[in-house]
This record gives sequence, C-alpha cells and structure tokens, in this order.
Amino acid sequence: MSSPPLSFTRSQELFARAQEIVAGGTTQGKAPNTLIPGEYPIYAARGQGAHLWDVDNNRFLDWILAYGIIVLGYCDPDVDAAAIQEIRQGFAFPLTRPVQNELAELLVEVIPCAEMVHFFKSGSDATTAAVRVARIITGRQKIVRWGYNGWHDWCCIREPGIPRHVREDVLTFRYNDLDSLEEVLKQQRDQVACVIMMPLEIEQPQPGFLAGVKELAHQYGALFILDEMRSGFHVALGGAQEYYQVIPDLATFSKAISNGYAISVLAGRREMMSALSQTYVSSTFYTNSIAMAAAVATINKLRQEEVIPHLWRIGQGLLDGLSRLAEEVGVEAETVGLPPMPFLVFTDADPDVRETARAVFYTEVARQGILLHPNHHWFVSHAHTEQDLAHTLEVSEAAFRLVKKKLGQGYRASSVSKVAVTASTRLDR
Ligand SMILES: Cc1ncc(COP(=O)(O)O)c(C=O)c1O
Repeated sequence: MSSPPLSFTRSQELFARAQEIVAGGTTQGKAPNTLIPGEYPIYAARGQGAHLWDVDNNRFLDWILAYGIIVLGYCDPDVDAAAIQEIRQGFAFPLTRPVQNELAELLVEVIPCAEMVHFFKSGSDATTAAVRVARIITGRQKIVRWGYNGWHDWCCIREPGIPRHVREDVLTFRYNDLDSLEEVLKQQRDQVACVIMMPLEIEQPQPGFLAGVKELAHQYGALFILDEMRSGFHVALGGAQEYYQVIPDLATFSKAISNGYAISVLAGRREMMSALSQTYVSSTFYTNSIAMAAAVATINKLRQEEVIPHLWRIGQGLLDGLSRLAEEVGVEAETVGLPPMPFLVFTDADPDVRETARAVFYTEVARQGILLHPNHHWFVSHAHTEQDLAHTLEVSEAAFRLVKKKLGQGYRASSVSKVAVTASTRLDR
C-alpha cells in the first residue's frame, strides 16, 4: 500500500499567489515542479539540524540541504552567532571589514591551489571571473567546459537569449574521455583559453582522468580550472583537488563554505589571480561581510569537529544500504557518487520501468517525510545521525517493496506525472 499524500494546502496557496507576482513562482532552478509534482513541499517554515518543517507543518528529514549549501545542519548555533555578531557591529560599509583577511588566510591555508583568493556573492560570478582571467592570461577566446557552471551567457544550459557568437565560443567534451577532450583542443588549436569543469558529478573520475585533463589543457596552452562549488568543503576541506591530488590553476568555491550564507570564491595561483586587476569585477554587495564571518565559523567547525569524515561515513552507509536493499528486494537500481554527494539511479533497460520505479520510490519516501531529490544528487550534513540513516533505509526498503509490487502489477509511470530530468543530471552538456 502506498502512503497517503501529504497535505500542501498552504504551500499551494502561497505558490498560486506567487505565480501572479513572482516570474515563474519561485527561483527557477529550485522550482518544485522540477521534482515530482504535488509530492514535495514548496515553502519552508523553519529548519533545525537535518530537518525542515514546511508551512503546512509537515516535518522532513532533508538530504537535499538547499543543494549543498547546508553542511553543518540548519541554524548551526556557532555559524549563526558569528553572523549575528557581524550584523550587530555593522556589515555594509564603503570600507572592507577585517574578517575578509581572516577568511582569505584560512582559504589559502586549506585550498591547495589557493595562493590568493577573491570574493563574490554567487557561484556564477566566480566561474565567470575564472573564465575572464583565463582569457586575459592567454589572450584567447574559446572555452572548453564540462558540467554545470552557472547561468551566465557563456555557460547557460538553455539557448534562448544567448547570442550565437557566445555559444560558438564554448565547447564541451565527454567526462572520463580524454580523447574527446583532445579532439576538441586539436580542432580549436591555439584558441582555447581554459578547460573549466566540475571535478565530478555522479560519475567518479577514472584514475588519471583529472590529471590527464590538466595535462592536455596545458599541452594546448589553456588553463585548467576546477569548479568546486559542490565538491569543495564536502569531499575534502580543500575540495576534490585535495582528494584526487590534482591541483588546478584556478578553482571556484561556494555552497558549503558558509553553511547557507551567500558568498563565493575564486582561488588560484598568484600570477593568475593578479590578472583580475586588468579587468573590472564588482558588485554592490561584495563587501557585505555577514557571509565572510559565517564562512570563517563554518571552516573552523569543519576542521575542529571532523565533519568531513562524518559526511563520508553517513554517505557510505546510505550508498551501501540502498544498494543492498535494492538487491534484496529485486529492484534494478544502482547507487552512484561519492559518499558526501550520493545518489540513486534506477537502471532497468526499459525506460518506462525506470521512470515508474523512480516516480514510485521518490513519491513514497517524500510521503514518509524524507526529502531525497529525484533528479539531482543529494548531500549529507554533520547533523545527519546514524538514526537518521537507519530511518532513511527503513523507509527506502518499504519504497523499494512498493516499486516491486507496482511494477509486478503492470503499473507504469505514464499513468502518473513523469519526473522531469533536469539538465543537472545529464552528464554531457
Ligand atoms: C558546480 C556549480 N558551478 C556553478 C554553480 C552556479 O552557482 P550559482 O547558482 O550560485 O550562481 C553551481 C550552482 O549550483 C554549481 O553547482
């Protein structure tokens, strides 16, 4: 028996009103209609640790964590206290607050490629600055990129509104396929300013792949840039570059760095970072220091409390547990991703079966109060406990059994709303 749907009356009222006054109803990339329509909450009331409550007072154990910006848990008292202290003494001056230097010192210490850093507010700002620096340094125009790098013109995943000449300057390659990268670099000889990529999404790099990308980029005179928005402060304190021991020329960070406060970072070798002075990057809120204070508190806590080993332990438990349960129950599914960023994919050869399994599974766990994203990898936080893990596995087992039963009864997802696959789950863009 599937669980009864949760009530989202208040969420739906607010969403209906928002559609009149907010274009799209909500921030586009985070729209609830990219999940399973009607099965996920839309408006949050509050959060604590690994849990959030929606405006209809449903309580959820959250493995989405605002797409990875929450790494310690919601409302972490130490981070919030640091932010509040910054607010009380003033955080928006025509001058810079000293906490900027404190944060920069920490980042230079923990990020392998960072001899210097520069701060921004959004991830897209930082990746765009990285690409600008690469163009200045090399005097070249073309970009080779892989993964999601933000929404600015050079990396927007949708065509409308983007000048054709901007798109023509950006090329891609296949993950874990060095030949496909070399082919692009050869074709564009002497024109490519940088290769910018997420170090991984749900597929892990094969041994030598990231080092191979770096080598090829350099061989063809391009910079090698890692976009560590998600991997940074999750996979290791210094990001995937520390974990895989492949040090890029430049790297970008955000998300988990500040447990929810808005800040992003461009980090890199001194002579490259110095090129920023040849261009102009600015924003009204760049000196706003609340997030800088939050980031200092977050990084200190990540270090002192052994947070990252905890993310690995709990994430590994989730990956192992889900694989075992899928096999025991007899559902074609596979767990993927590194433990701090785990995910589950349904793998039956028949796309209708896959789609049905996914819709049934994610609907059932959501109805049981567990937020697992159906089309984006998940995140683990320090606030997730062994009990949260055990509870998630218990609910997942029941959801797998329901999948098995419904598939056995001939039920297919065409009779329910299909789960949209967003661009962020596609491996080649
Ligand atoms: C890997 C990666 N790069 C860049 C970005 C863009 O960051 P923002 O949405 O803050 O502009 C994101 C956002 O999710 C991301 O995951």
